[in-house]
Amino acid sequence: MKIGILGSGVVGQVLANGFIKHGHEVSVGTRSPEKLADWKSKAGKSGRVGSFADTARFGDLVVLAVKGTAAKETLRLAGAESLKGKIVIDTTNPIADAPPDKGVLKYFTSLENSLMEQLQAAYPAARFVKAFNSVGNAFMVNPDFAGLKPTMFICGNDADAKKEVSTILELFGFEVEDMGGVEAARAIEPLCILWCIPGFLRNQWTHAFKLLKK
Ligand SMILES: NC(=O)c1ccc[n+]([C@@H]2O[C@H](COP(=O)([O-])OP(=O)(O)OC[C@H]3O[C@@H](n4cnc5c(N)ncnc54)[C@H](OP(=O)(O)O)[C@@H]3O)[C@@H](O)[C@H]2O)c1
Repeated sequence: MKIGILGSGVVGQVLANGFIKHGHEVSVGTRSPEKLADWKSKAGKSGRVGSFADTARFGDLVVLAVKGTAAKETLRLAGAESLKGKIVIDTTNPIADAPPDKGVLKYFTSLENSLMEQLQAAYPAARFVKAFNSVGNAFMVNPDFAGLKPTMFICGNDADAKKEVSTILELFGFEVEDMGGVEAARAIEPLCILWCIPGFLRNQWTHAFKLLKK
């Protein structure tokens, strides 16, 4: 598959490498392609770099991996036409431009209106699936937790899109929990706040969530 990754930060690069490792062709989108010269030289012929618009056009599947405050602007630059009908894996968290309060991140959204709901409403023809937002980038691709698979919580309105994303997540070493429609992003996005607390308080960043079930 051709994967268009909107975002050149650590998440964009880690997921780009993960998709290449699993046999896909990847384009990474950025406002400054020159920033990724080093990544591109290491990625070989399966990796390319372009604008957000080029990258969205290139992808059969699109991954949104930009700063939460830039998510809307990035999709505007990507262009609605290029997102039409495509799966958009949304890795973003709506972290506000304010410091954490005693280790608790601040969000610019509310518990009644998540970022992914806003993005889905703005681009109704795109098929958003929330994923990868509740784990650190070091554990996004085939993480090693001594044989235990971490849980990836996902949600979105399109059942086929979630099925396809689940297959990818299983390949990337996760067990998948489908939490329902886009509204569930109100619960999945704040998992990042919880994930980061041990990091900010005790410099512990090497964990992942697992849902225990009977
Ligand atoms: N870091 C983690 O471990 C982690 C884990 C889970 C989820 N996440 C989420 O994943 C997303 C990406 O995180 P990250 O750590 O890789 O990097 P980041 O610093 O949050 O995002 C970097 C990307 O945001 C873009 N960007 C920033 N300001 C912009 C603007 N005004 N207009 C358009 N684009 C803008 C940058 O574009 P340019 O390429 O043009 O500079 C770059 O591609 C975030 O939403 C984060 O909350 C991160």
